[in-house]
Amino acid sequence: MRSQRLQRLKKVFVKSYGCQMNVYDSERMADALAVDGYEQTDSVENADLVVLNTCHIREKAAEKVYSELGRLRTLKQRRAEEGHETRVVVAGCVAQAEGEEILRRAQVVDVVVGPQAYHRLPAMVRAAQKGRVVDTDFPEDDKFAHLPKLERKRVRSRGVSAFLTIQEGCDKFCAFCVVPYTRGAEVSRPVAKVLDEARALADAGVREITLIGQNVNAYHGAGPDGREWGLGQLLHAVAEIEGVARIRYTTSHPNDMDDALIEAHRDLPQLMPYLHLPVQAGSDRILKAMNRKHTGDAYRRIIDKVRRVRPDIALSSDFIVGFPGESDADFDQTMRLVADIGFASAFSFKYSTRPGTPAADDTAQIAEAVKAERLARLQALLEEQRQAFNRGTVGKVVEVLLEKPGRHPGQLGGKSPYLQAVHLDGAGLAVGDIVPVLITAQSSNSLQGEALRGRAGETNAPGDTAAADVA
Ligand code: SAH
Ligand code: SF4
Ligand code: F3S
Repeated sequence: MRSQRLQRLKKVFVKSYGCQMNVYDSERMADALAVDGYEQTDSVENADLVVLNTCHIREKAAEKVYSELGRLRTLKQRRAEEGHETRVVVAGCVAQAEGEEILRRAQVVDVVVGPQAYHRLPAMVRAAQKGRVVDTDFPEDDKFAHLPKLERKRVRSRGVSAFLTIQEGCDKFCAFCVVPYTRGAEVSRPVAKVLDEARALADAGVREITLIGQNVNAYHGAGPDGREWGLGQLLHAVAEIEGVARIRYTTSHPNDMDDALIEAHRDLPQLMPYLHLPVQAGSDRILKAMNRKHTGDAYRRIIDKVRRVRPDIALSSDFIVGFPGESDADFDQTMRLVADIGFASAFSFKYSTRPGTPAADDTAQIAEAVKAERLARLQALLEEQRQAFNRGTVGKVVEVLLEKPGRHPGQLGGKSPYLQAVHLDGAGLAVGDIVPVLITAQSSNSLQGEALRGRAGETNAPGDTAAADVA
């Protein structure tokens, strides 16, 4: 008894790089380690266990890990001099891609664990006392079955908006992309499991659920009726869960935007009017070389369809400039597509050569300076569109989900249906409330507003009045 009481709680520091899938995985790793007595800390200096959940998507992201590991080497030494052990775990997509190589490059690392094997992390950390451990299997057993159930208190501490992984991996093999190799083949979680997890989130006070997957709209999970369900059908079932006021999903592929999904944007008020649909490029020649299997016009037609059923939808996308062989004329097609469609926000990147992907062997690589110049032009246009979109909300009333304290005392911060950050005076309001807010001003990265009345009822904002003019 006595020795147990004196035993210090072990602390784990988890740092997440890359996409939302990694954010979700980091939370689940922390949950699994909690069962072994690890308490999460924000301070790497005090951590007995450091987990870097890494991203391999672009060279810069992958290299960041090694500079972080350099810093951790110094820290580990210092803590050892003070009599504390520190174990270092590399998880995520770099772990999957590089495996043992990481142990060779970085002495400081004790454990390397891939994204499909992290339910074994607690056991691996224990085994690491005897020697370094690597596991980058794609095990037959489903990691979700081995992860601890969501704990109310832990969920609540993470806020009112949560990610829920419904699908993993990718079978699309875009010529530039490492994801099919780091995450493996497409797998969808069964509908019942997804709904159980969604209910657990809602029970713990989560108001907004974002269904995530590398190709979330390729979802085809086993339904309770013995059939495969698509994302459209799944969204309907999630919308029926009490307490789930808002639903989002990400990331989608244009070729998987089927009618059921598009119609869900018309029929489900809980489904927020925001769509992140990566297009990558505007030139058909480049799209073909990228193995995207859609044209610029096909993308435009999908957007038209979505806008027809949900005219106020905010659009977002991903772009790559300087893919091998991209000419000035090709790039102009990307600029044209952006100008034609109009995006509320977007991510854009210089093409980064990834070992093992088909495009890496292409001899027509584009000069760094050309990529930089194209990226600057594209980002200027996208930024103009983002500002114009935000300006368009000023003077309107939008429903805001309050998520956290704002920058100033008494303020609360939240999100509009269009994923814009909104700050307002929080008097009489609480985190988790959804309130109608008159947007009064715009600054570069957020909006300011005034709550029009107290809390909205327990129901959600009816979708078609998500942004109404104050008339
Ligand atoms: N599954 C998603 C996103 C995958 S990665 C999809 O298909 O859209 C997120 C984004 O990173 C991609 O959309 C792409 O724009 C970018 N990306 C992927 N590989 C890249 C590379 N080699 N160089 C630059 N950007 C890349
Ligand atoms: Fe990568 Fe393409 Fe799969 Fe997206 S669809 S994860 S870009 S291979
Ligand atoms: Fe990065 Fe892996 Fe996500 S490579 S973007 S962390 S799937």
